[in-house]
Amino acid sequence: MNYLGFEKSKVETTVKNLNQLLANYHIYYQNLRNFHWNIKGQNFFELHAKFEELYNDARLKIDEIAERILTLRHRPMSTFSAYLESAEIKENHGRLNDREMVKALLENHKVLIENFRKTIKAASKAGDEGTVDMIGSFLENIEKSSWMLDAWTADNAVFDHVW
Ligand SMILES: [Fe+2]
Repeated sequence: MNYLGFEKSKVETTVKNLNQLLANYHIYYQNLRNFHWNIKGQNFFELHAKFEELYNDARLKIDEIAERILTLRHRPMSTFSAYLESAEIKENHGRLNDREMVKALLENHKVLIENFRKTIKAASKAGDEGTVDMIGSFLENIEKSSWMLDAWTADNAVFDHVW
């Protein structure tokens, strides 16, 4: 038992998922910076600012995830070579237009969402409510920003009215 009442081995699956999140988040972060710098066209001002908001948010979450791993008495993955090797999210090398950038981010979000859900399952199994809570709030945040990005890509003519 460690100082939090966890056996180190019990939280290992959670930590693996958290390290995977760190890897995915770093590539996502750099994709956002890439898009922030290289955005062009009529939506420049709007998306340039939005991408900055998203990478600042990602930067804070990266730190929270790494420090959660340390709190669980494990070591966070800390080098870019390890991130590149482990990440499921790929670096963006292409020249994308505004719409393609938003679509690419939505794809990145899908990977993060899947990674969040796996982490929550593992943490919940280990009785680690602290991680469940933290990652649960990150999940809710990214689901909301995915909705907004998805709404941005939608064609006004295709709204379904259900009321
Ligand atoms: Fe900037």
